[in-house]
Amino acid sequence: MPLIAPSLLSANFLKLSDECQMLNESEADWFHLDVMDGCFVPNISFGIPVISAISKTTKKICDVHLMIVEPEKYAEAFRDAGANILTVHYEACVHLHRNIQQIKSLGMQAGVALNPHTRVELLRDILPDIDVVCLMSVNPGFGGQNFIPNTFEKIRALRKMINELDVAVKIEVDGGVSLENAKQIIDAGADVLVAGNAVFKSADPKQTIHKLKSL
Ligand code: DX5
Ligand code: ZN
Repeated sequence: MPLIAPSLLSANFLKLSDECQMLNESEADWFHLDVMDGCFVPNISFGIPVISAISKTTKKICDVHLMIVEPEKYAEAFRDAGANILTVHYEACVHLHRNIQQIKSLGMQAGVALNPHTRVELLRDILPDIDVVCLMSVNPGFGGQNFIPNTFEKIRALRKMINELDVAVKIEVDGGVSLENAKQIIDAGADVLVAGNAVFKSADPKQTIHKLKSL
């Protein structure tokens, strides 16, 4: 059974409290929180005060996806804001291993996200240190984009590497996940589905989460 991580980037920000309550009543496993800095990605979303408010509404895992440069400057602040999993981008980190160690020493699980052009093989040497690999199935920066099909091959390659190294790493897939392609993504080997538009723009978000969960 996949873990479902709705992305609050697609939520109604004027009704965040209702949106959080809906997620709490749903079968969602994680709250996926997208932080964008206008530098690593061409968009700006929300940051520490908003995540601090959201995390207080829930007992579910807060999965914070940092699309920012120099994430080491803010790791502690995101931990204090309630992040349980802190994911940094391979492409944004000069000293990725150091960043992962920092996140873990702060008591969080460490995630590494890969852009669509970044090969999963590049993670081989540090895979045992990582808790979650977030495979971007769109170019990061915006919700509501189309799923990039090369992700299927990347999921399979990562699953193979995880099995070979015998490590407990979760594969999260982020971007363009829908009720139409979710089964195929799970069959390829994904553990966690992030879904923004597919959940929040649907007529019945709770039911959509239920359907994703039951695939
Ligand atoms: C994209 C974000 C995603 C995004 C997913 O940069 O990392 O989490 O919100 O949204 P959908 O599911 O609409 O593609
Ligand atoms: Zn994300």
